[in-house]
Amino acid sequence: MLLDRVKPLDAILATAEKKGLHRSLGAFQLTLLGIGAVIGTGIFVLTSEAAQKAGPGMMLSFVIAGLVCAVAALCYSELASMVPVAGSAYTYTYAVMGELLAWMVGWALILEYAVGASAVAVGWSGYFVGLLDNSLGIHIPAALAAGPSAGGVINLPAVVISLLVTGLLIIGTTESARFNAILVLIKVTALTVFVAVAIPVMNSEHFEPFMPTGITGVAGAAASIFFAYVGFDAVSTAAEETRNPQRNVPIGLIGSLLFCTIFYLIVAAGAIGATGDSSFAQPVRDAAGAFLQPGTSELTARCQELAGMGHEPLACSREALAHVLRSIGWTKLGNLIGLAAFLALPSVVLMMMFGQTRIFFVMARDGLLPEKLASVHPKFKTPHIVTAFTGIVVTLAAAFLPVGRLADYSNSGTLFAFAMVALAVLVLRRADPGRARPFRTPAVMIIAPLAIAGCLYLYVSLPLIAILVLPVWGIVGLLIYFGYSRSRSHVGRGIVDVPETEIADIEPPIPGTE
Ligand code: ALA
Repeated sequence: MLLDRVKPLDAILATAEKKGLHRSLGAFQLTLLGIGAVIGTGIFVLTSEAAQKAGPGMMLSFVIAGLVCAVAALCYSELASMVPVAGSAYTYTYAVMGELLAWMVGWALILEYAVGASAVAVGWSGYFVGLLDNSLGIHIPAALAAGPSAGGVINLPAVVISLLVTGLLIIGTTESARFNAILVLIKVTALTVFVAVAIPVMNSEHFEPFMPTGITGVAGAAASIFFAYVGFDAVSTAAEETRNPQRNVPIGLIGSLLFCTIFYLIVAAGAIGATGDSSFAQPVRDAAGAFLQPGTSELTARCQELAGMGHEPLACSREALAHVLRSIGWTKLGNLIGLAAFLALPSVVLMMMFGQTRIFFVMARDGLLPEKLASVHPKFKTPHIVTAFTGIVVTLAAAFLPVGRLADYSNSGTLFAFAMVALAVLVLRRADPGRARPFRTPAVMIIAPLAIAGCLYLYVSLPLIAILVLPVWGIVGLLIYFGYSRSRSHVGRGIVDVPETEIADIEPPIPGTE
């Protein structure tokens, strides 16, 4: 039961051939696509969460999370070059370990993409509110600018951006490659400006104490900041639209990841060391000296208290990078960083919501979800039902939950999917050693187990509630699988090469790839 119903690799490849998406992307565009999907709320916003969890030790957290992603990316590359079709981790698992585990991975990817989209929307909201306040003097009341645990009632800007992106996806807007390149340029310029201003005034004394919360704090921050790297797998989902995917997909995956890791480290160093206040990057404590948890009303209250005393540490800011620059007197540049985040983060929301609809699609096409979900709008030719459904879920989560919590939930699903991909590489090496592997994961017997162990380590380092989200979500998934999907599965009913044309015709290209 556990490993039955494997969808033959050759059938998947045949399906992809039939679909015949135009192969137009090269290594450079893929790398840009990866960077476009990766740089977002993680570095722009969650840097302050990481500071609360680990203080200056968050530098190590960025390294740990980057390393886990690097070994996972090497595994992704092998599968993506062998099976260059849409559906990513879900499809790979279906081909290697069968339907039940594929379902679980697809189900976990919902956490990655939908909840991830909510997190980015909330991150965007922080910058939007700060930008209005600092550059136009328009103050959005706290009650309307954050969810309950962050001191508000509802996060209205996050609601608006989520609905806007849903609307864009329904009317069929996808970013063009040129538009994606412009947004990447905006983000990279913003981070470069940040680095150019913050690094020269860096004070190494601000790195002391380096690990105020110990290695546990560093691991906790790594588990959260992992979110900053999520999205590189978007490159593998574009394999079907890539020229010479065997060469270009691994370059795109590893290139974008390497670029982001180096950038993140320099940005984190600037954020820690730049201000005149030596306790700026240290975690905020309550009056009794105990560390406070990020995303809690206690931390919000303490931050308000500190602000009243003219002290605004990194951990209290919802627009971390802009806040650093304002704190060292570069108010206008801080506002420009805010503007860059304001302009560029919605495309990350779009990318993640799009990824979500695509996963739903592939699952519906395999008969595991109602085909009605994938029905097409007569005028816009988009899967409006599944998009609207996704949009509502994303909006509700963004309205009420804080960014760090959403990112942690998203991470728990993503870590599961990454670990399964690494496992699939190992299983496939054993089960089908003769198949052509245009990209081979180097030292697979070390890299793949390292990826699995790394994902496990980050997963257990998440806050308890985020750890629990995955099994609870998994149980709901299993109930749906056995109650609905298993009996309707195309593979289970012997329909291996599914009728493809309807879905292929309406499936829009991946944002940023045209
Ligand atoms: N890595 C993406 C971000 O940080 C999801 O927004």
